[in-house]
Amino acid sequence: MSLTTTLALHGGAPAVSRPVPAWPIAGDLEAAWMEAVVRSGAWSWNGPHEQAFCREFASFIGTKHCMLLSNGTVTLQCALQAVGVEPGDEVIVPGMTWVATAQAAFDIGADVVFADVDPETLCLDPKAYERAITPRTKAVIPVHLYGAMCDMDAIMEISRRRGIKVVEDVAHQHGSRWRNVGAGAIGDVGSFSMQQSKVLTCGEGGAVTTNDPQVHEIVHCLKHVGHTPGFVAGNRYGHNYRGTEMQAVLLRGGLSRLTEQTLRREASAARISAGLERIGGPVRAVARDPRVTRQAHYCMTLYYDPQRAGGLTKAEYAAALAAEGLHLQSTYPPVYRAPLMNLYDRTSPVPFRDQSRLQDYRSLKLPNVERAVAETALLMFHTYLLGDDAYIDSLLSAIEKVNAAIPALLAARPAQAQAKKSA
Ligand SMILES: Cc1ncc(COP(=O)(O)O)c(C=O)c1O
Repeated sequence: MSLTTTLALHGGAPAVSRPVPAWPIAGDLEAAWMEAVVRSGAWSWNGPHEQAFCREFASFIGTKHCMLLSNGTVTLQCALQAVGVEPGDEVIVPGMTWVATAQAAFDIGADVVFADVDPETLCLDPKAYERAITPRTKAVIPVHLYGAMCDMDAIMEISRRRGIKVVEDVAHQHGSRWRNVGAGAIGDVGSFSMQQSKVLTCGEGGAVTTNDPQVHEIVHCLKHVGHTPGFVAGNRYGHNYRGTEMQAVLLRGGLSRLTEQTLRREASAARISAGLERIGGPVRAVARDPRVTRQAHYCMTLYYDPQRAGGLTKAEYAAALAAEGLHLQSTYPPVYRAPLMNLYDRTSPVPFRDQSRLQDYRSLKLPNVERAVAETALLMFHTYLLGDDAYIDSLLSAIEKVNAAIPALLAARPAQAQAKKSA
């Protein structure tokens, strides 16, 4: 075997020789704006960059309103409260998401009911959502997760029919479009995170989008100690969840590049998807719903079939690929297993709840979430997709190389186990 066909794991040369494109990216535009902001002393309190960003982002998503907040967890809290969620109400959340989606509901006193995800897209399964509805259900949070959108036709139809408010969690997909309508403009309100890893980022930050002026006004009161958008003291309880001019500058710069980057990522994902189909083997891209007219990618969602790899686990497969220079990640663990969900313990950071009204997370098992986490879901982080075609082809070569070496990886297993025992 030559050095190029021997797995890097077994001492061969890695298939991918170039480093993964860097993230986050900043340009000269925001560097110049940032210097001017720093010297101006106008650093907060709805300054000109914050106002401009909100106008630009609202127009990008296709909503009448947008508000900048300090992160993508408080955006969810404020969005839920703005659509009328109160303590004791239930909010339906997919069993696979970042813990903040559930935490936001808990922190405003709501109870969270977890529902299973679609095994292909990993997004909230509309049938599981409908089964989870009770007389206490006030809102649902469809999370457009990784590189696929929720079935928004089905989720909106169920929600309108059952009188349930829809808070889209768009932390992963700034710029995705469903039938040409922006994610964050489909439900009653959209919530965005601009944390450092996200495709539009300012280090930490968040935004709420809506077409409803009343929702917009309530979110303002909640983020600005009870004051309305005209800065008049209202009679609502509120916090300080304000953003800054420095965040707005970075976001405006990022937004000026976002469409080009999204198109690049989409083209790379299509190239990878076609390449994987040609190569065959245990990994494929998840199917893209034709109603998704633009797909933004926090990650590209991949499906791994261990049976097509003779039982090689996705962790073993991913380890071999990582040695070649392509680090595929696993998903979030089931969110109902997160330590933060231990609501039965008085040391929980979440206020103690009436146990008789809680879904029992300790015995909860959502089969599609569990199988995706344990066996089938793999993710390619969005920075890989920013590479040029030659780079994308080198990623495909790495996959082809590992696929060809699956028999060798399986054969090496007992030897490794043996070596571990004698070590
Ligand atoms: C799906 C999802 N929702 C909400 C959040 C929370 O955003 P933030 O970290 O800005 O509070 C994140 C952050 O990673 C996320 O991935």
